[in-house]
Amino acid sequence: MSELRKKRIVQGVTGGIAAYKAAELTRLLVKGGARVDVVLTAGGARFVTPVTFQALSGRPVWSDLWDARADDNMAHIELTRGADAVVVAPASADFLAKLAHGLCDDLLTTLCLARDCPLLVAPAMNRQMWENPATRRNLRQLAEDGIHVLGPASGDQACGETGMGRMLEAEELYEDIVAFLVPKPLRGWRVLITAGPTFEPIDPVRGLTNSSSGKMGFALARAARHAGAQVTLVSGPVSLPTPRGVNRVNVTTAAQMREAVMARVRDHGIFIGVAAVADYRPAQSAEHKIKKGKTQLTLQLEPTADILAEVASLDQPPFCVGFAAESQNLEEYAEAKRQAKKLPLVVGNLVQHGMGGDENTVILFDNQGRHPLQAGPKQELARQIVAHLAQLLRT
Ligand code: PMT
Repeated sequence: MSELRKKRIVQGVTGGIAAYKAAELTRLLVKGGARVDVVLTAGGARFVTPVTFQALSGRPVWSDLWDARADDNMAHIELTRGADAVVVAPASADFLAKLAHGLCDDLLTTLCLARDCPLLVAPAMNRQMWENPATRRNLRQLAEDGIHVLGPASGDQACGETGMGRMLEAEELYEDIVAFLVPKPLRGWRVLITAGPTFEPIDPVRGLTNSSSGKMGFALARAARHAGAQVTLVSGPVSLPTPRGVNRVNVTTAAQMREAVMARVRDHGIFIGVAAVADYRPAQSAEHKIKKGKTQLTLQLEPTADILAEVASLDQPPFCVGFAAESQNLEEYAEAKRQAKKLPLVVGNLVQHGMGGDENTVILFDNQGRHPLQAGPKQELARQIVAHLAQLLRT
């Protein structure tokens, strides 16, 4: 992943058992391409040592307001200049209270006060501390001061109690940080996406399906959400986790997918058909398991409805993006599909490159012509497809 390439993040870690999750967050941010400078409070260093963060970030770790390594001895200034964000995870009740009152008695609180970039905090504390009127008051103050609060979640706590105050998981924080940092060309848009295969039952145990994994569609849902859209993902049977912040509707058959799409599409300004929808289904599905026999078995197939064609021919259609999966003559067939369904944008890919795996090779076809994208991870391609789509919407 390179979605945080060229981003600089200062990650603060305060004292709390959730500090162990902070190490994983550092790893994810670095993997995402960010440069991460970790600042540990004295409390944070009691839970996880600087060595852990140094190894994960590949950079020196900072703890001391008087650290002589910084130019002019001013780590509290130097660290945040040029940074895209300060992220404090976990943020203890004590740290939030100091922040709300502008106190600065260590490196982290001082650099937060001296920063010139956005500040995101991920609270982590016992449920009673979270509900305490003082904490509520401090959070109201932080919201008023323009500080972004990520979470917390509710659940089992290290102290044995259950309730609100658990820090979000590292993957959830990573998603929220990416969503916060990337451009928002689809802000205000609602996007409906289909993904995955469909499964057309022959009998209670067998069916017709294909090898779509859902990865391309899920990557697009994630990229569209990062771009600021409200996303609904209608998914066939796949084993992928729902991208954070995306509304997912599970379906099995092409008919169910059509129903789910047609029930929602009028509320959406953009429709992206990534699903590998069955073109045919058994004319009849047997009620009981078909018994093995010695003669040939003939299946009668009937065509399914073409969801994308139906959406594109609505009186007031959304902006429609189709996919074309071909095994040969990609350019000719993809452009023919675009013309036939009158689509502003078609993403063409060869099934032998794109189906099932983590990478793809795609060409975009629009009224201006063909735009090949460099082969790469589906998530990176999804980001570029969303950027291209946003550009078309603007023009
Ligand atoms: O899921 P992955 O493993 O990541 O693989 C990704 C992918 C190869 C499935 C994806 O990139 C892709 O190409 N999806 C479209 C697959 C397909 O069915 O292509 P098609 O050329 O048969 O259909 C053209 C378009 O019509 C597609 O947008 C499709 O969603 C839509 N369609 C097709 C049939 C149908 N009954 N209803 C439809 O809406």
